[in-house]
Amino acid sequence: MTHILGIETSCDETAAAVVRAGEQVVSNVVSSQFAVHKPYGGVVPELASREHLRNIVPVVRAALEGAARDYSRIDAIAVTQGPGLAGALLVGVSYAKALAFAAEKPLIAVNHLEGHIHAVLLQMKAEGNENLQFPVMALVVSGGHTHLYLSSERENLWTYSNVGKTRDDAAGEAFDKVAKLLGLGYPGGPVIDRLAQHGDPHAVKFTFAQIKSPARGEKSENPGERFDFSFSGIKTAVLRYVETHGMQAAIEARRRALLEIPKPTTEDFLRLTDRGTLNLVASFQRAVIGDLVGKTLAAARSYNVETLFITGGVAANSELRTRFEERAAHEGLAVAFPSRPLSTDNAAMIAAAAYPKFLAGDFAPPEFSAEAGLVLR
Ligand code: KG4
Ligand code: ZN
Repeated sequence: MTHILGIETSCDETAAAVVRAGEQVVSNVVSSQFAVHKPYGGVVPELASREHLRNIVPVVRAALEGAARDYSRIDAIAVTQGPGLAGALLVGVSYAKALAFAAEKPLIAVNHLEGHIHAVLLQMKAEGNENLQFPVMALVVSGGHTHLYLSSERENLWTYSNVGKTRDDAAGEAFDKVAKLLGLGYPGGPVIDRLAQHGDPHAVKFTFAQIKSPARGEKSENPGERFDFSFSGIKTAVLRYVETHGMQAAIEARRRALLEIPKPTTEDFLRLTDRGTLNLVASFQRAVIGDLVGKTLAAARSYNVETLFITGGVAANSELRTRFEERAAHEGLAVAFPSRPLSTDNAAMIAAAAYPKFLAGDFAPPEFSAEAGLVLR
């Protein structure tokens, strides 16, 4: 049975995992840097690289110990090549290269977005669901990405064609920025998810420009119809709402109060958040999810797909899951998500995505390097 050690350092999580035969997670260790970046309200690239350097050795060691294996019983090492923060990626790539060289193991380079897509497959296999119908439309929605990929597989080799992406902010970035401007801290997604359940999603009206054709001067990777997203407008709309409704003083008070609480609970957030803000948060979340669901379903119809994969950090959102399940059922499409721990960044998804490449003998040449802007094909 093939065991692959996966390593992931593309953003603010140092992660390592051992996955058996591309389908069974034997160990999965994630060291999050939330506490380091929290005071800045977002990821600071230099701090991320420094934290990866500090954490990579103990995290990889913990993943091997968790799997009760040493390097002699690992068949290959897989690492995220990109996309992501250049300095952060370099830590993982350099460490994986050194390990592969010293332990004389093959090295496999994995695209982070392909990792997110394979997190869904990992989950399906864990649930014993072998009935996957192609083609698949995969929405990768996270802090760095909002991408739609038309995906197919032939003889273990997956191919991807991008049919939509964000023109500006990623959806998760919009959650994070809106949380920050409302004094709710970082990361914003999980907090907004919990607070939105207590607000009225119809209280504030947001509209979206429907962007469907490639912008001028932009070459399309795919000749078919495009389904692009844009989330910077809604962030500005929330900011304007805050200004016109005189919410700044309450936001500042909330920000200061939350800084005093080491690990705020949902009750703490609710105690510090007024009804108007809860309504604003619920309306914002409803608008973003409505757009994600609407465009993904439209893309699925246009490309005649059988199955939807919804993955990435924002796929942990409860309302997003419910809305996708309802709409997919209505349109007769299958929809699959990773478990919540596999939705956000982890290395099990990297080891899983590496397995078909291992079978195909698709190994990284010794001179390969990290690529911050790596494209998925
Ligand atoms: O996939 P991920 O861990 O890292 C990237 O590759 O970006 O995604 C992190 C993003 C953050 O923007 C975070 O706010 C968002 O995912 N997120 C959520 C939820 N949990 C995490 N957004 C909405 N609802 C959630 N429950
Ligand atoms: Zn990610």
